[in-house]
Amino acid sequence: MNYLGIEKEHLSSVAKKLNVFLASYQIYYQNLRSFHWHVKGNNFFELHELFEQLYNDAKVKIDEVAERILTIRHKPMGNVSEYLEYSLVKEAKDILSDKDMLTVTLSNHTDLIQCMREIIADASEVHDEGTVDLIAGMLGDLEKRSWMIDSWISRRFV
Ligand SMILES: [Fe+2]
Repeated sequence: MNYLGIEKEHLSSVAKKLNVFLASYQIYYQNLRSFHWHVKGNNFFELHELFEQLYNDAKVKIDEVAERILTIRHKPMGNVSEYLEYSLVKEAKDILSDKDMLTVTLSNHTDLIQCMREIIADASEVHDEGTVDLIAGMLGDLEKRSWMIDSWISRRFV
C-alpha cells in the first residue's frame, strides 16, 4: 500500500542520496572506532571518551537513516563493499596525532553536512517532509558537535 501518498519514482533521488549518506556515515562510524582505540598522549582519556560518544551517536543515526530508506519504500545498502564504493567520507589512517584525528573528524562532518543539505533540497522538492524533518534534526546536531570539536582544536593548538 502506498501510505506515503508520494509516487515511489519521485522518491528515488531522495533514496539514492540517503544511501550515499548511509554509506558515508558507516565509514565515519568506523573512523571513530579506530580513533577511540588508537588515540595516544596526554589527552587520551578525554578523547577516548569523546570518540566513544560520537560513534554511539553515529550508530543510532545510521539505523534511523537505513529505516527511513525502508519507510520511503527503497532498499538501504547493507554491504561494506557498497559503503566503500559510495561513501563521500574517506577511510582514515589509524596512526594520527590527536589533533589530526579531530581535524579528520571535522572534515568527515563537512562531508556529512553536505550530504544532508542535498537530501533536504531533494526531499523538499517532492514534499517528503518526513525525510526533511529527520535529516534537518541530524544536521543541527552535527553542526553543534562540529563547533565543539573546532573549539577544542583551537583551544589546544592555536
Ligand atoms: Fe571502548
